[in-house]
Amino acid sequence: MSYVFLSIALVIVALVLLYLHNHYSYWARRGIPQEDPIYGLGNMKGIGREFHFRDINSRLYERFKRSASPLGGIYMFFMRSAFIVDLDIIKHILIKDFSSFHDRGIFSNVRDEPLTGHLLRLEGEQWRAMRNKLTPVFTSGKMKFMFPTVVAVAENLSRACGEFRTEFEVRELTARYTTDVIGTCAFGIECNSLSDPNAEFRNYGRLIFGKPRHSQLVQALILFNPELARKLRCKVFNDEVTEFFINAVRSTVEYRVQNKVKRNDFMDMLIEMMAEDQEAAAQHDSIDLSQGLTLLQMAAQAFVFFIAGFHTSSTTMSFCLYELAMNQDIQDKLREEILRVLSAHNNIVTYEAVNEMTYLEQVLSETLRKYTVLPHLLRTASSDYRIPNTSLTLPKGSKILIPVDAIHHDPEIFPEPDIFDPARFDPDIAEKRHACAYMPFGDGPRNCIGLRFGKMQAKVGLIHLLRDYKFIPSTRTENPIVLSKRNFVIEAENGIYLKAVRVR
Ligand code: HEM
Ligand SMILES: *[C@@H]1O[C@H](CO)[C@@H](O)[C@H](O)[C@H]1NC(C)=O
Ligand SMILES: *[C@@H]1O[C@H](CO)[C@@H](O)[C@H](O)[C@H]1NC(C)=O
Repeated sequence: MSYVFLSIALVIVALVLLYLHNHYSYWARRGIPQEDPIYGLGNMKGIGREFHFRDINSRLYERFKRSASPLGGIYMFFMRSAFIVDLDIIKHILIKDFSSFHDRGIFSNVRDEPLTGHLLRLEGEQWRAMRNKLTPVFTSGKMKFMFPTVVAVAENLSRACGEFRTEFEVRELTARYTTDVIGTCAFGIECNSLSDPNAEFRNYGRLIFGKPRHSQLVQALILFNPELARKLRCKVFNDEVTEFFINAVRSTVEYRVQNKVKRNDFMDMLIEMMAEDQEAAAQHDSIDLSQGLTLLQMAAQAFVFFIAGFHTSSTTMSFCLYELAMNQDIQDKLREEILRVLSAHNNIVTYEAVNEMTYLEQVLSETLRKYTVLPHLLRTASSDYRIPNTSLTLPKGSKILIPVDAIHHDPEIFPEPDIFDPARFDPDIAEKRHACAYMPFGDGPRNCIGLRFGKMQAKVGLIHLLRDYKFIPSTRTENPIVLSKRNFVIEAENGIYLKAVRVR
């Protein structure tokens, strides 16, 4: 009897091993280079502890590049993904053959968690419709409209910076600034986290990034098996976060509609769209866009502006100030430009003045290269796809990873990549590089929709700070700075401490 059980058990083990062997040799069998995977972990050993995703990506990038293959194959735990190294193929995937790669293939579960129905996560037709709707919200004309609001918050930023008598944590200060900017522009609420460090919006912002809903295991499931996670009806955000944001949007909309308040911000534009949709729905009563649904859809978009907008830009600003403190010559040169351009504009920070500051643009570009906010871009093939110049056809549903951070640190593209050097972005040097050698905001029709806005708020904040203060390292300033391994988005492990000395 026990003999039978034992045989059955052995057969099961053998089948599982066979399956795993088969699964984890997928790329090798197709003649695509791969790094020996560990069953269960794939190539992700030590992620979040010993290694950040960007460390794993650079290891794999170097390996595949050395093998002279335009791509490699990787296993993120169970999930297979093509890992593209060749810049021409990247250009095909992101731009030329976009019609096969419009989806990211990341988790969303609109049924149980309406806030996940936002642009970053939507797919297919739903994504396209929403992107078309939101694109007009981010034109340069609209940026100009919102500009004075951003300047008003930046004045408070400079004031708040003056309150530090000694060294302070820069990231917390810049996060309070971008929270106020996005809060005002996306939610129409004066969050006042610059005057009150414990303001509600800032606390919820901390909660989203600092206190995840799930254990690491469930987070890994959501990240690496989004289809299964959706079937299991997982959610990503804490209920209090969801409730807070939906209520914030609902009360703002009600207030504005009742009091006919107009402020030329994202919220106004979303309200206009909602009104148009309801008219359209009333005219052809076939489509049912009930108020609840559109309000939730709207809340989801405002929410993504908030999460995508405050964290990315504030981190970038803080790393920028760090590098300026460590490279005083660059800081002096930048301050000279800021003062020179402003004096030609009656010392008023105008939209045009900001756009004349070309060195500021270079400094910001170099910051986004050295401290690439997202380690990689993701796409999913929506049809079978033959990789150009190879015999490999990726079946529909295949995942693609584009290791942007590794490319930004490739010494063949950016010599001495650890050196902070804005001269890399001198126009005549930059234009000699491949179009896909630098893409901190992604590329193609699914790139960052908030690119202009993100750069604008970072620049306006930096202009106000550098006009009024000189930033210098303190005894607590790390060199080099230690990056966190835990968070997907780039972050300094122990914060960024600097001193600000008033110069004006
Ligand atoms: C320094 C600031 C920022 C950086 C570095 C950044 C970076 C990125 C990147 C790398 C992507 C993915 C692009 C791709 O897959 O090709 C993205 C997408 C996105 N970003 Fe940003 N972002 C920034 C600021 C913002 C701001 C301020 C907003 C909104 C107000 C925003 C909203 C979005 C949205 C909605 C998407 C998804 C777009 C889509 O799927 O259609 N981002 N961002
Ligand atoms: C394919 O190969 C040709 C000839 O070598 C080359 O000109 C072209 O750029 C390659 N395309 C891609 C996407 O690599
Ligand atoms: C700037 O700070 C003041 C005082 O704390 C506050 O009343 C005002 O609303 C803030 N302005 C903006 C645009 O956040």
